[in-house]
Amino acid sequence: MLGWTRAMAIDQIAPGEGAILQVRGVAVALFHGNDGWRALSAACPHAGSLISEFLTDSGTVMCPSHGWEFRADDGQCTTLRAQRLRVYATRVENGFVYVKVRPVIAVFLTIFGGASADPPRIR
Ligand code: FES
Repeated sequence: MLGWTRAMAIDQIAPGEGAILQVRGVAVALFHGNDGWRALSAACPHAGSLISEFLTDSGTVMCPSHGWEFRADDGQCTTLRAQRLRVYATRVENGFVYVKVRPVIAVFLTIFGGASADPPRIR
């Protein structure tokens, strides 16, 4: 399926926690929320820092550089309403969580090979 990448086994991330992954050349923050999986762009729109890999009790994620906060369910920034993180689709299948990232380069790699099935973890 075009654009879907197996991110990791579902038991690798405890509920409330996440990981920052390099998925098809895109920095993705993958979270195991209490009500399912969420995948967001990991690059903060303020100055490009990587956001945290931990969810708050209210279901938000912070950027450690200057404290901007984002809702994990839709990427909306609660600090500055005009900003948001991109949201990527997720699905769980056979004990693994998959993320759908489709930058132009990902489509090329899917067609011509070279895309890794196991994306490296940034942190
Ligand atoms: S870089 Fe994220 S709040 Fe400044």
